[in-house]
Amino acid sequence: MELQTINDIPEIEGKRILIRVDFNVPLTDSDENGHREVQDNTRIVEALPTIKHLLEKGGRIILLSHLGRPKGQIVDKLRLDPIARELKKLLDAKVTKSDSITSDHAHEEVEQLQNGEVLLLENVRFRAEEEECGDQYTKELASLGDIYVNDAFGTAHRRHSSTAGLADYLPAYAGYLMEKEIEALSPLLENPKKPLTLVLGGAKIDTKIGIIKNFIGKADYILVAGGLGNTFLAAAGHNLGESLCQHDKIELAQEIMMECQEHHTKIILPHDLVAASEASDDAETADTPVEDFVGDMKAFDLGKWSAEKFCNIITESSTVIWNGPVGMFEKKPFQEGSRAIAKCLAKHECTSILGGGDTINAIKMFNIPVESFTHISTGGGASLEFLEGKTLPGIAPLIKA
Ligand code: 3PG
Repeated sequence: MELQTINDIPEIEGKRILIRVDFNVPLTDSDENGHREVQDNTRIVEALPTIKHLLEKGGRIILLSHLGRPKGQIVDKLRLDPIARELKKLLDAKVTKSDSITSDHAHEEVEQLQNGEVLLLENVRFRAEEEECGDQYTKELASLGDIYVNDAFGTAHRRHSSTAGLADYLPAYAGYLMEKEIEALSPLLENPKKPLTLVLGGAKIDTKIGIIKNFIGKADYILVAGGLGNTFLAAAGHNLGESLCQHDKIELAQEIMMECQEHHTKIILPHDLVAASEASDDAETADTPVEDFVGDMKAFDLGKWSAEKFCNIITESSTVIWNGPVGMFEKKPFQEGSRAIAKCLAKHECTSILGGGDTINAIKMFNIPVESFTHISTGGGASLEFLEGKTLPGIAPLIKA
């Protein structure tokens, strides 16, 4: 996939450049004055190379981002002011935050923008039209700029005005982050080094079905855990008491297991799980074989033996894709499974690709340096849908004809 990137823009100086970024970042709770701050600035830092490049070349930068899901309403706690404050710390340029998106006021602010300056517009999802991606609104948004740059890989799976629609009205280019993500993820679809292993956790099977289906026959191993793993265990005939399980997806899980068998992809299920009566920081736990679950027992983490087995497979793999923690790592007693996977993957020399907000949060919580992995995607849903083999609506207009 060859992209039209910001290196292909014929003239940058003096141009009004609309950059869609994904600054949907975690914020702290409000303090006594109602202020919130950026808790994890990774997505902002990752967008800096694009912003800096276009600033250095004399562009007038207009940043567009969403934060949360305000569904077309103005929600004060989802205003982008904390993000503007963070951006000011990171950029050696004048950064102004607008309270508007497409109003006359926003137009005036854009008019005042000088070469090498940045204007961050308000949360694009405060306008209901953003998600509808209608022509009239998208045109209105496009009238703020001369050039459209999409650097928001994290929202590339959304067909919204700012993530895809603008490309119908302005010359469109991929930013460096978008390019980096696609360059890291594409080889997994085209020609991954084998053995290839997928480690999939998280609560539900729904969000992982697409990626599993796309890798049946391509992956050597698919290791499943978390709520997702429980659904597969139920499909294999185990009763896990009151553990999280999508009972309406058991048939689907059975079909997947059969398909895996036909196409020589080994799907590996946990043999033991950490059981507790509740998911609390002081819960009493017991490593329990899956066949010993009874009554109202609940599983919250991958057991020791299974974690070891997963790690053995990981260390035999040349490529590992990990999406979703294998237990409820937010609670202390249930961190060990995810920690074991993270540590062994960090140590093992292979192509390691991580995705999903929770996976990244787990890595950070365990203090494992991000450099230990080949690539950590800034996309959650976007990276999963990309690995399903879909052409994402935000990426399609950036592909060179
Ligand atoms: C994400 O956090 O995955 C992206 O910012 C997309 O957010 P969304 O799921 O609300 O579209």
